[in-house]
Order: sequence, then C-alpha cells, then structure tokens
Amino acid sequence: MAENVGMTATETSLHSMAIPAAGAATGRGSYWITTFGCQMNKADSERMAGILEAMGYSAGSDEHSADLVLYNTCTIRDNAEQKVYSYLGRQAQRKRDNPHLTLVVAGCVAQQEGEALLRRVPELDLVMGPQHANRLETLLIQVESGQQVVATGEHHILEDITTARRDSAVCAWVNVIYGCNERCTYCVVPAVRGREQSRLPEAIRLEMEGLAAQGFREITLLGQNIDAYGRDLPGITPEGRRAHTLTDLLQHVHDVKGLERIRFATSHPRYFTDRLIDACADLPKVCEHFHIPFQSGDDDVLRAMARGYTVERYRRIIERIRRRMPDASISADVIVGFPGETDAQYRRTLTLIEEIGFDLVNTAAYSPRPNTPAATWPDQLEEAVKVARLQELNALVEQVARQRSGRYLGRVEAVLVEGVNPKNDQQLMGRTRSNRLTFFPAQQADGTPIAAGDSVAVRIEAVRPFSLSGSLA
Ligand code: SAH
Ligand code: SF4
Ligand code: F3S
Repeated sequence: MAENVGMTATETSLHSMAIPAAGAATGRGSYWITTFGCQMNKADSERMAGILEAMGYSAGSDEHSADLVLYNTCTIRDNAEQKVYSYLGRQAQRKRDNPHLTLVVAGCVAQQEGEALLRRVPELDLVMGPQHANRLETLLIQVESGQQVVATGEHHILEDITTARRDSAVCAWVNVIYGCNERCTYCVVPAVRGREQSRLPEAIRLEMEGLAAQGFREITLLGQNIDAYGRDLPGITPEGRRAHTLTDLLQHVHDVKGLERIRFATSHPRYFTDRLIDACADLPKVCEHFHIPFQSGDDDVLRAMARGYTVERYRRIIERIRRRMPDASISADVIVGFPGETDAQYRRTLTLIEEIGFDLVNTAAYSPRPNTPAATWPDQLEEAVKVARLQELNALVEQVARQRSGRYLGRVEAVLVEGVNPKNDQQLMGRTRSNRLTFFPAQQADGTPIAAGDSVAVRIEAVRPFSLSGSLA
C-alpha cells in the first residue's frame, strides 16, 4: 500500500540528514542503517543512530562504503526475512575484502535466529535482539575488544539516555509499551519482542516535552498492542480501575506545550474501550485517525487466529468512533489465506472492507512463521490461492480508499508541513489530521515561504486513493 500506518513491514534507510552529528569527537568512521519492518523498528533505529553518533560515528552516505553497517530486521513474513539475507550476502563479501567493516544485525530476525545467524553469516560482528537496542554502545565495545557478540536474552528495557537521531524534524515516535502478551496463532511478534513492558507516564511525558522543545509538532505513541498500555504497571484507582491505561496516558500528556497533534498505534479491537473513544473525541490534539487491524471478516477465522473478538464487536467499535467523530479515518491490517480459510470466509473479509469503508488497509497473504501454532496446521492453502485472494483484495482496498478520498474534494484541510515532496521540489508535503498525505505548492501566493512544522490550510483539488493535492487556501 502507498502509505505506512501501523506495524506494516516496509523498508527505509536512514541516510545523511542536515542535523550535524552531536558529539562526533572520537571519529570512529561512518555508519549506515537500513531499517526493515514496522514503526517499532524505525523508532529503535533512530535511537541506535543516536547512540552511534554519541560514540563518534557519523552518518554515511553510502551503504557500500560505510565503516559500520547495521540492518534492523523484520521477520513478520518470510519475504521480509529473506530480503535481509540477500542484503547480508553483499556485505559479507565486502567484509572479506575489508576486515575493518563492522557488521550488525539487529531487530526481529536477529532475535529469532540468534546464533544460527552467525553460522549462516560468519562475517557478522554483532547479532542483537530488539530489547537490546539501547545497549548498542556496550555491545559494540565488546565487538571492539575482538568478540563476536550475540545479545538475544530476555532483557528489561532501560530508559534511553541517548538522544535519538530522528528521521523527521516535525513528527516523532515515542514508545509507550514494548512487547506483546497476545498469542495470535500466526504471529512471531511475542516471540521476538518479548513480554509487555510499559514505560512510566512521567518518562513518556518528559520525552514528549523534550521533543516539543526541539520543535516537534506531532507525536505518535507506539506499541504493538497499545491498548495494553499500563496493564503491567501497579496501581488501582478509588473506582477500582487500573490506574494506568492508554486513556489515562493520553490525558496525562495531552497538554504538553508546543505539540499540535497526538496519534497512537497499533490498537487491538479486544481492548479498545468506549472510554478511549470518548477521550479521543474530547481531547483536541488527538487526531481523528484510528489504526485498528481486524485481520479477518469471519468469526471462525478470528477464533482460529485467537484474536479474542467478533466481527460484530469490531463493527460496534467503528460505529461508536463515527458517532463521536463522524469524519474519523479508519485504517486496518488484514490477512488472507489463513490456514483453512474458505472462499466464503474470505468473501466476508471483502464485505467488511466495503461495509466499513476503510481509508487504508495494509494487506498480507498468510505466511507460516517459525514457532507459531498456525504454521503447523495441516490445512495450509496453496500459494496460488493466497496470491489470487491478495490481488483481488488489494483492488478492492484501492477502490474503497479512492471513494474515501473523494470526500476531501473541495474541502479545506489543516495540513502539518513535513517537508519537500522528494519527487517534486516545487511542492511541499504534509498530512491531514486524518493522516492523508497531501501535496501543495511550496510558497504562499504573496511569496511568503512555508517551513516544515507550519500548519497550513490547503484546499483539496485532486484526490487519489492514498494521497491528496491542492493549493493554499
Ligand atoms: N500488533 C498488531 C500487528 C502487528 S504485525 C496487531 O495486533 O494487529 C503487523 C501485521 O502483519 C498484522 O496486523 C498482520 O496483519 C500481519 N501479519 C502478522 N503475522 C503475519 C503472518 N504470519 N502472515 C501474514 N501477515 C502477518
Ligand atoms: Fe502479533 Fe497479535 Fe501481538 Fe499483534 S496482538 S503483535 S498480531 S500477537
Ligand atoms: Fe515489527 Fe517486523 Fe518485528 S513488523 S515487531 S519489525 S517482526
């Protein structure tokens, strides 16, 4: 899909940016990070880049000449994992010619494969799971002393004291809960990200205040199952509720000065509460965009996935959101070709997509993953069936998104400016509160320049399924 909301696997590279490397005193050479996978990984990469720069590495401009190459990997589906091996093959070759190259595999493939990765690619210096991201410096010091290091043990995630090197100067991610305690039968995330660990509200607020002071305007709070936030923290209110929930967190951080927008992802329908919906409607900075994966439109498939809700419950959540916020945009993730999925069950997924009218759906064909229950079930579908369903599904998703985009035509939308359109330097780009990517001319009619971080009013003149364009109003 064109955009990337929620935890969908995509790939990005962190390359040279205008921000000078802070504390680049010791001159350890250049680094390159390629990030695969979801926003969790992107947030981890930004923190690891910050650590590297504090150690004296500077951002390199080329993957094939950098002194340290770090792949932050994803294993959500087999194709995500295979991509890493092809990248590693080229770097291993380079390392044989240049022993000074430091090769690091971080993230979810590292966690899943551990030492097996060293056997497969003996040139690696460091294999480190996501819970060790904040320990990068300690681990690299071990590497510098001549060891090959594997760090994949269960680890309490320490509060990060290094400043992340953020990819954007306007929008930032803030982790609020790490890990996942769910047991969806198709999913590797609990195995690779470990148990849930919520950060304290004070630490989250402090980070947000720091970001606002640096000029960030939009923050997305992150968790694989963000609705679980706080359930591992102690405390009960006088009314007998858990003291720490996502709703309480939103209320706690909402008044951070300088921030304009707050988002959160990813929501789980099992735990998405009416109280949360009401808080989102009442708190003006919380954007009217909800990423709530439903995975399947069929109750029996949902049960086999161990998702813990029915299609009816999902419908009721969306109804309630739309009652309180009629223009809210809704995005989701869905899997087709789950073991045993019949044609009729698959069609119920299509029906739900039309019925809800999603602004965006991240789609995937089911991929059997190591150490997950569904991978061992006998009723796996043929690849051809999965591919055919995925193609038909994608066409429908695009058609529905196009219809949803149509509602913006002629409207004036508040757009938070993120920067120049990389494909057209005469244009700027930003997002609406509903998270639609929007392009518009780089200058006001009177010649006044517009800067990243400004909020501008754009009259929408052209709509595409996943983006909009218009002129300054
Ligand atoms: N925590 C989020 C999603 C995390 S994984 C949630 O509970 O919804 C991101 C998406 O990848 C999932 O929503 C799912 O649609 C997809 N996914 C996960 N495991 C998969 C698998 N084995 N095969 C295909 N898609 C998968
Ligand atoms: Fe995976 Fe389910 Fe956890 Fe999401 S909630 S990360 S799909 S186990
Ligand atoms: Fe994210 Fe992929 Fe890991 S989706 S949690 S990077 S397996």
